[in-house]
Amino acid sequence: MKISFSKLIIPSSGSLAIGFFEDDKFTKFSNSVNKKTANILSAAVKYHKFIGKKDQFISLVSPPSSGYKNIYLFGLGPSNKIKDSDIEEVGGDLFSKIQKNDELKIFVDNQKIPKIKMVKISSLLASGIYLRAYNFNKYFTKKEKLQKSGLKSVSILSSDIAASRKKFNDFKVINDGVIFARNLVNEPANILTPITFARQIKALSSKGLKVKILTVSEMERMGMNALLGVAQGSANPPRVAVMDWNGGNRNQKKIAFVGKGVCFDSGGISIKPSHGMWDMKWDMGGAAVVSGLMKSLAERKAKVNAVGIVGLVENMPDGNAQRPGDVVKSADGQTIEVQNTDAEGRLVLADILWYVQKNYNPGYIIDLATLTGAVIVALSKYYCGLFSNDDTLSEDLIRAGALTNERLWRLPIGPEYDKLINSSIADMKNIGPRDAGAITAAQFIKRFVNDGVKWAHLDIAGVTWSEINTKLSSKGATGYGVRLLDKFVRDNIENNN
Ligand code: BES
Ligand code: MN
Ligand code: ZN
Repeated sequence: MKISFSKLIIPSSGSLAIGFFEDDKFTKFSNSVNKKTANILSAAVKYHKFIGKKDQFISLVSPPSSGYKNIYLFGLGPSNKIKDSDIEEVGGDLFSKIQKNDELKIFVDNQKIPKIKMVKISSLLASGIYLRAYNFNKYFTKKEKLQKSGLKSVSILSSDIAASRKKFNDFKVINDGVIFARNLVNEPANILTPITFARQIKALSSKGLKVKILTVSEMERMGMNALLGVAQGSANPPRVAVMDWNGGNRNQKKIAFVGKGVCFDSGGISIKPSHGMWDMKWDMGGAAVVSGLMKSLAERKAKVNAVGIVGLVENMPDGNAQRPGDVVKSADGQTIEVQNTDAEGRLVLADILWYVQKNYNPGYIIDLATLTGAVIVALSKYYCGLFSNDDTLSEDLIRAGALTNERLWRLPIGPEYDKLINSSIADMKNIGPRDAGAITAAQFIKRFVNDGVKWAHLDIAGVTWSEINTKLSSKGATGYGVRLLDKFVRDNIENNN
């Protein structure tokens, strides 16, 4: 589907969607459309008590003599309160409601908003449409499924086409990072293995990222036994991929983004029940988001020194698989009793945390992992779980989450919980008791974060995948985290330079 911007003149054909801010009146534009359509606009507004509230939506069939097919009215909410992500959501929502049409022109009618802000609004609507229009249909072979959306083009009317287009392209760089992540997450595990995943990351070198891929022998040499233990039951060998971006000042400390990339999590010998196990193809969501984010940061030449690292493994049962009760020594020298081979994400993270701290000395670490079912029990799919050793970092992340509508909810960590993962045979065990499963997982990761490093752990198990269409995402992979962390970097790191 094509998204474009066109001149602000009253169209003579196609379908028309007109947006209103709350309690705004018709301007010349809407008045003339109203006239051309035998006053169905004003009649519908009156009949449906349409006042431009966010989520208000009216669909009208235009009188044939008007030349238009359909007319839609949509609400944007109060013009002084609406935030950027709200406008994107209005765009995405609009797209989902008018999928059947062929050619859509969108116009936002308003009286109070300055032109320059209107340019941004037009590109935010386009951005939302772009995100919502994505779907993963590469495996359908039948035409009907392939062409699910009959919408061929969307054109947004703008008073400054060039400026709108430029703004839209800025958003598109982030959105393409989101889509890169979604594509990885949606891909089944027979196609996306640690090796093919690493290959896709390697290709990001063309964006200016310095990419390094670690193979098994290198990992063995460095003693990354926690990660290797998870992978040892799989015919697909593991990889670690590092993406380095230096866009900031020379003396600025690195921020590290760390992602769990379990390409398939069967549970290993502590095998999962078969029903729903297919979901575990998306147990690499953290790694996908880190890759999509690094791609976007490079593409927009972000003024930040960032490094992304992902641990890519497959967790399988096999004659050679790791057993419950095994003890492994991680690369940083700590020993772990693996009581449950299904608590594998933390084992992978342990070794890549060591690697990134040793080689890049980051000031901040943000890790993302589809780590626990327990976080879904606590928060469902509406918030991701946030765990951190730093209040300011937490507040900054929560603020970025509110602004992008990728929300986080902070949960506690502390010595009481840390105690729960002490082992009677090694430095720690990889599971705690039944209680507080998301927290004990975070405590485990914390044991691999060096003193003085500001760290946040995002348990994204609930938000990585959606069983239903949402305003900015068709069902399946959401790409949650890319927009959030891009916003975090912009507002908190680039702005302080
Ligand atoms: N990948 C899972 C967590 C998960 C569950 C992600 C559901 C997405 C949806 C993780 O590796 C896992 O299996 N965690 C176990 C930990 C337990 C064995 C301590 C869990 O949550 O049950
Ligand atoms: Mn698991
Ligand atoms: Zn897992």
